[in-house]
Parts: sequence; C-alpha cells; structure tokens
Amino acid sequence: MKYKLPRQILTPEVSALISRIVRKQRIAVVRANKTHLKEISEVSRAIAKSGLPKYLVSRKLPDGLGHGIFLHPEAEPLAKGRIIAPYSGEVTFVGQNIPDESAYAFAPLCDIQMTKKEQALFDPKNRYHPKRLYSLNLDAIKKGNFTRFINHSEKPNINAEFFRIPANTCGLTPSPLEVVYVANKIIRPGEQLLVCYEGEDKSYWGPLDIKPVPITSKTFMLSPSLKIVKTDK
Ligand SMILES: C[S@@+](CC[C@H](N)C(=O)[O-])C[C@H]1O[C@@H](n2cnc3c(N)ncnc32)[C@H](O)[C@@H]1O
Repeated sequence: MKYKLPRQILTPEVSALISRIVRKQRIAVVRANKTHLKEISEVSRAIAKSGLPKYLVSRKLPDGLGHGIFLHPEAEPLAKGRIIAPYSGEVTFVGQNIPDESAYAFAPLCDIQMTKKEQALFDPKNRYHPKRLYSLNLDAIKKGNFTRFINHSEKPNINAEFFRIPANTCGLTPSPLEVVYVANKIIRPGEQLLVCYEGEDKSYWGPLDIKPVPITSKTFMLSPSLKIVKTDK
C-alpha cells in the first residue's frame, strides 16, 4: 500500500496553536494511557513498514464504494476499545468560510482565532484580519494511511476519538490532539471496518452530492479465500 504515514506531523508552531485552542475551547481529549500508547506504537510501525497491519485486508467493493478495509478471516477478533490507527494526513489551517470538498478530510477544530504572527505563518496569502476564523484541516487525499480507506456507515464499528499523546517511552512524538480510530464494539473476522463520517453538523455528504449506500460491517464479508461476499445484513 502506498499510504504509509503512521501519524499526522505537527510543527512546533502548529502544536502550540492546537494546544492553545484545545485549552481555550475546552475540547474533550482522552489522555492516551499505556495500552493506547503501546497499540498506537505497534500499528504505527506496521503502517510505516507495509502500509497495512497483517490482520487487516484491503479490497475493492462493488456499488461504487471504492476500496474498504476488512479484518482478516483468520485474525483474532478486535476487542471494543482497541486502537485501529491514528487518522493521518496533511495538516493545514483553512478559512472557515471556504467549503471543504475533500472526501478524505477531517476538521477536528474550528472557530480558531489567530494572532497576527500566526496568520502570517499559516495564511500568508491573506491580509491580517483579527476576526478571521479558521478550521484545522486534516486531509488524507495525498498523504495518509489505511484509515483513509475505511468506509462510512450509520452503524459504525469504529469511532473517531480525540487523543492527547503525552511524553512516553514508546517512541511516539507527543501531540496535543490526534484523531484516532477506536473500535466501538467487538469486530469479528471477515467484517468490514466502518466509521460514521458525519457528526451533528451533517456536513460530509451534502457538498459531495453523494447518497451514501446503507451498509453495516456484515453487508460485505471477506471469505476464507479473501473474496468479497455480499450478504443481506
Ligand atoms: C474516506 S473515502 C473511503 C475510501 C474509499 N472507498 C476509497 O476507495 O478511496 C470516502 C469515500 O468513499 C466512498 N464511500 C465511503 N462509504 C460510502 C458509503 N457508505 N456509500 C457510498 N460511498 C461511500 C465515497 O466516495 C466517499 O467520498
């Protein structure tokens, strides 16, 4: 797999701005514990090496769904709470009034106000305006990892959660905010990994003008011979 970026990369300036906004807006962020750190570190190594951990399989799906990610039919089930991987991509700040039409982007933070120095650094093409608001954009269109191939469902088996990565001995660069995919229920062998793309704002599908196909983790199953089987579930 060509997408091998284990985690988002934050410059010290981006990190400082995100830390301030997380504090100011009192964003709920989970402090990664030892188990989280170990799991993030293991999956990050697998991504850097081959793109996909051995217990996952990527397959092309019918019905215009593109690729999807499945738990290998011979793998152990993934427990509820198990880290799937950080969602990685390019990190930028974009003006909040600019519509985001990337099918691979997250906006984990919005209503960001910047100092003059920060605007000059992150938005050099526009003249300083103290009231201009920005969103933090995490876009996996060009760079990312296998999480960019995880499809959408209204009945997901994965949640996107916000983590803080503290100083650690697992080799992970600390981060004030990381979007991490976590299993929200047990995921069984052969099932598809699915996340719900929309939060309360319902902002994903509208701009793309796509009506999502209603799928569950069992609608397409991966057979023992690693073929896609469509079911009525
Ligand atoms: C983050 S990508 C997921 C990976 C994508 N299948 C691929 O091969 O690149 C999101 C895009 O996948 C497609 N997709 C994902 N879930 C879908 C669903 N339930 N119904 C229709 N299209 C879906 C849409 O084109 C969507 O914009």
